[in-house]
Amino acid sequence: MIEWLKVCHIVSVISWMVGMFYLPRLMVYHSDKEPGSDASETFKVMERRLLKVIMTPAMMASWFFGLLLAWQNDFWLEGWFVSKLFLALLLGAQHGFCVIWVREFAADERKHKARFYRLANEIPTVLMIMIIILVEIQPF
Ligand code: HEM
Repeated sequence: MIEWLKVCHIVSVISWMVGMFYLPRLMVYHSDKEPGSDASETFKVMERRLLKVIMTPAMMASWFFGLLLAWQNDFWLEGWFVSKLFLALLLGAQHGFCVIWVREFAADERKHKARFYRLANEIPTVLMIMIIILVEIQPF
């Protein structure tokens, strides 16, 4: 049973991370497209679908299976798990910002330059590496 929960958890977090890496990348290229242009309209559809069809369901599944695993193993007070939970909440916050950025582009706003989204793209990478170290090494 726990093994199948882990399978579901890992599939969910991989799907979530795919979106967290790809969406800011789309915005890097979208940010210099003319509002109302065909290219800008195409990016809007891609961003909306990636967020709604993949990222948000995958984030919810990651939390659901992750918390089920924690409950099954009673990891609540383990140092590595509490730290992992904090980093996963930061990933959730970044996801929240992605929702805001998708809405800004949908409203044809150009609030940020390409460089901003390039930097935003690095955050989930760093958080993912730290999370994997915590869950595999369980250092404390
Ligand atoms: C969203 C909140 C999350 C919760 C509550 C959570 C919780 C957990 C728990 C309790 C385990 C079982 C650990 C064990 O049995 O030793 C686990 C395994 C794992 N988690 Fe998460 N996790 C979350 C997010 C993530 C994220 C964002 C990633 C990667 C970016 C991730 C990657 C993994 C991996 C790779 C494993 C398998 C470890 C193994 O089998 O060796 N988790 N998670």
